[in-house]
Amino acid sequence: MRTLIEKGTCVTASDTFLADVVIEDDKIAALGRDLGKVFDKIDKCIDASGKLVIPGGIDVHTHLDMPFGGTVSADDFESGTIAAAHGGTTSVVDFAIQPQGGGALMKGLHDWHAKAEGKAAVDYGFHMIVREVNKSSLAEMDQLVKHEGVTSFKLFTAYPGVFYVDDAQIFRALRKAGDNGALICMHAENGPVIDVLIEEAKARGETAPVWHALTRPPRLEGEASHRVLALAEVAKVPLYIVHLSAKEALDQVREARDRGVRAYAETCPQYLFLDHRNYQEPGFEGSKYVMSPPLRMPGNEQSLWQGLRLDDLQVVSTDHCPFCMKEKRLGENDFSRIPNGAPGIETRLYLTYDGGVRSGRISLNRWVQLVSTAPAKLFGLWPRKGTLAVGADADVVVWDPERRVTLSVKTMHMRVDYNPYEGRQVVGGPSQVLSRGKLVVEDDKFVGQKGHGRFLRRGQTLA
Ligand code: URP
Ligand code: ZN
Ligand code: ZN
Repeated sequence: MRTLIEKGTCVTASDTFLADVVIEDDKIAALGRDLGKVFDKIDKCIDASGKLVIPGGIDVHTHLDMPFGGTVSADDFESGTIAAAHGGTTSVVDFAIQPQGGGALMKGLHDWHAKAEGKAAVDYGFHMIVREVNKSSLAEMDQLVKHEGVTSFKLFTAYPGVFYVDDAQIFRALRKAGDNGALICMHAENGPVIDVLIEEAKARGETAPVWHALTRPPRLEGEASHRVLALAEVAKVPLYIVHLSAKEALDQVREARDRGVRAYAETCPQYLFLDHRNYQEPGFEGSKYVMSPPLRMPGNEQSLWQGLRLDDLQVVSTDHCPFCMKEKRLGENDFSRIPNGAPGIETRLYLTYDGGVRSGRISLNRWVQLVSTAPAKLFGLWPRKGTLAVGADADVVVWDPERRVTLSVKTMHMRVDYNPYEGRQVVGGPSQVLSRGKLVVEDDKFVGQKGHGRFLRRGQTLA
């Protein structure tokens, strides 16, 4: 099967050039001018004149079919990856979870394979959440890296009793990563102190969703970030901070990088386009934005944009963890019982193109780097994914820079009954999305197949 994408403007993290793209089966076979004259038999031709041609988006932070907060996230691997494809994302890296009570990492991995296999519409990989670092989980980390293609692990300084691990455990995991080349990802908030603040607020009778944010102050994200960065510095290994929300945390990453620490961090669109005022929406609407870390005060997003521009932040991922309002209502009388998380797997490229590139905050090439190339490099997918190059997987998005889209629960494909950006109008969106050479979305119609997505055995980080 040979596909020709003609006359588009190809954009990679480093270059912008007019070229045709020839895809043979699942790989990019050629990039160049007038390739229609060079390759005789073309099975499908896509006219990309006036459009951008970019490598498919890579979302390295999703929670599909995840048991959490007394319920399960609303998108599974079928609905979540279809929604991802609609938004121009052709690879996701989801979080498999070590079973509670220190169960085997391999069991958690098998569970996640079972959730995804035969369902995913685009390619997927797994990180592993380690909730108990001990002799056996440390040994299994080696096994996962060497034999299972799972080369990154997430640990938490938040959620005591659920995912929290102490500093010694974090340090041991970092040492292990130093040996086996894995990347440790940290959820950095001071969970034990947050729990005291929650207890105090509840004792005063506070119940509203805004208290989720008020009991998770930015200083406690800054503090935890400082601590885990110091641990990585002493262990002499790279560290990746997930869903960084606050200037206080970004300052720590920047200072660590300036000291020479291999510190990396991602932020998410919710921290760039929403803020604390959303918690003040009437009734129980504020629960839509209950996520951890929480939305920050207006103005904080300026620091994040600067971090994205200056490379103190390297990735924009989503932390897609959707819950319908029925589930959010588990916390109607107690903000601490509202399931943490919000949808975003479909809206990441729309928001960052419109609010980033079109508004002049980042360049086109930086956009591609943040949503595709840097995640591929940091998480062992490059050069197979994350760029337009001969031999790379043909994960390609034809992006219409003039397409007008209203972000809404009515028009989007995530299996959740609200959209945090409801009614927001953006310009720019995918017209065709190809996953390994196969057209999966065309003119906002899903034309792919569940089960097309393959498990990505990832290599070592280039951090
Ligand atoms: O609120 C969030 N972020 N939910 C998902 C779990 C996590 O900490 O990433
Ligand atoms: Zn987290
Ligand atoms: Zn998350």
